[in-house]
Order: sequence, then C-alpha cells, then structure tokens
Amino acid sequence: MTSKTLFEAYTLGSLTLSNRNVMAPLTRNRAGPGFIAGDLTAEYYGQRASAGLIISEATQISQQGQGYQDTPGIYTEAQIEGWRKVTTAVHAKGGHIFLQLWHVGRISHVDLQENGAAPVAPSAIRAEAKTFVNNAFVDVSQPRALELDELPGIVNDFRQAAASAIEAGFDGVEIHGANGYLLDQFAKDGANVRTDAYGGSVENRARLMLEVTAAVVEEISAARTGIRISPVSPANGISSSDPQPLFDYIVEQLRSPWYRLHSCRRGRHRRAAGCRAVRLRIASPSLQQDLYRQQWL
Ligand SMILES: Cc1cc2nc3c(=O)[nH]c(=O)nc-3n(C[C@H](O)[C@H](O)[C@H](O)COP(=O)(O)O)c2cc1C
Repeated sequence: MTSKTLFEAYTLGSLTLSNRNVMAPLTRNRAGPGFIAGDLTAEYYGQRASAGLIISEATQISQQGQGYQDTPGIYTEAQIEGWRKVTTAVHAKGGHIFLQLWHVGRISHVDLQENGAAPVAPSAIRAEAKTFVNNAFVDVSQPRALELDELPGIVNDFRQAAASAIEAGFDGVEIHGANGYLLDQFAKDGANVRTDAYGGSVENRARLMLEVTAAVVEEISAARTGIRISPVSPANGISSSDPQPLFDYIVEQLRSPWYRLHSCRRGRHRRAAGCRAVRLRIASPSLQQDLYRQQWL
C-alpha cells in the first residue's frame, strides 16, 4: 500500500473514515473517581482525532471486569456521560471512535473487586502476571472459577456495555478478545481446564467469545462491532496448545453466514448493514491467516 492510499478516505461499514490510519487501544490509567473518563480523556482523544479511526483504551464492562487502577468503565450513568464528552470532542474534529469492551478475568487483584472478592476466571489457575494497583506492580490475585450459571450475566454485561457505548456516542465497539483477558482465557487451554460446555474441545472453549460477539451484534449490529484476538501472544501468562485450529474455528464461525444471520435475525438490525461480518483485528500475528485478513476488508 502506498502512503497515498494510506491517507485516502475509507468506507468501513456505514462510516466514511478520512484515512486508513487506526489508532491502537492504549490503556492510560487516567480515569477519575467513579472510574469516569473525564475532561482530560476528552482532550487526549480530541488531539488524536485526525486518525481515520480511534480504538479507545480498554474499558471495563463491570467492576468485576476491572484489572488495573484508574481504568475507565462503561457500566454507570456517570461513566456514559463522561464518555459522551470524549465522543463529542472526536466528532467535532471529524474523527471516529470505537470503544474497546473489556473483562480482564483473572488479571485482577482483590483490591479492585467488590468487597475484596477473588477475581473470576474459567478455572482457578493463577496467571504468572502482574497488575498495577495501589500505585505499584504486584502479582495478580488467585482467581475462582466462574459457575456455569454466572456466564449469561457476563454475556449480558457485554451486551449492555455495547448499548451504553452507542448511547455515549461511539461509532462502534471492539470486543477485547485478546492478550490473556477473560475471553482469551476461556479460549485457551493454558487457562481453561473446565469439563462443562465451556471447556475441553475447541468448540466449547470458543463458546463464550462467540456468545459475547453474537450478543453485541444483536444489540448494536455487526457493522458497529469488531473483535480483537491474539492467537499466539503470551501476554498476561496465557498459553494455548492448539492456536491454529482454535482460531481457524473462531474466525470461520465469525465469517459464517449462519453465525451472522443467527445474530442478526434475533437482533433489531435484521438486514443491510446489520448483517455484515464482524470486523476483526489481530494482535501479534504469526499464524497462517489469509483467512483472517479477509475479515477486515
Ligand atoms: C501502555 C500500553 C497500553 C496498552 N493498552 C491496550 C489496551 O487497552 N487494549 C489493547 O487491546 N491493547 C493495548 N495495548 C497493546 C497495543 O494496542 C499494541 O498492540 C501494542 O503496543 C503493540 O503494537 P502492535 O500491535 O502495532 O505491534 C497496550 C500497549 C501499551 C504499550
């Protein structure tokens, strides 16, 4: 791609981006009390609005989903109001911005959880990883395994967060399925040794990521939905014995007409833009992934 092409306008679903530069999501730890993205955040993203598309810093969908100090949320009215300042600042300069939706799973610390509870994970396996809390880097806490009947609540938190992002003025969302956080933990057998419908086979381990994506698509349409995956990154102490078949399956599912129609048919966005494929971005690529590239185009 020539640099001229890089600066040409680009049609992404129903959006016309002024160029093909996409700003990567970057955690800033600058949220105020109540984990609200405030004026400083609006100034920061407004300064970067000349990018064709900004993916925001990862933003927790619930208190349980928080893993680092001072990261912003999207689960209270005040947080939605705070983010509205950000989207207004970016749009005023002709930019576009997606909110990255985050549940950290086991990459958390008891001091960030309600009543000092253990962080949650697919299995009670502590990650060899650090988090930043109380102004210091410390080992993550021992997690507890999520019960089967808790999983619909997590899917619903992602769905609600997507709706709240649109309410706050975002152009779309990116589901954080990468870097050793909750959805990546479920997908990879280094963190998931469950024996129920969410563990074991590739299909079972991929289930939560696909259910979350279906719920978000159902809520806000595929045209506004992206997902970030990292098939081989060891970030946050994650590992997988079978990344190629695992992510071949996940990407096939996300591309399949059945998956798209299934998500769209149940949602409010039945036709047209709503049933386009979900956008896919890959962190630390190194698998054979011609298949994956087609998904972003
Ligand atoms: C300080 C810092 C914060 C980051 N925060 C996020 C984040 O919130 N969400 C995310 O998906 N990636 C995050 N990343 C990863 C970056 O988006 C990016 O993938 C990484 O810097 C490597 O760049 P590359 O993907 O172009 O190779 C972060 C990276 C850094 C250095």
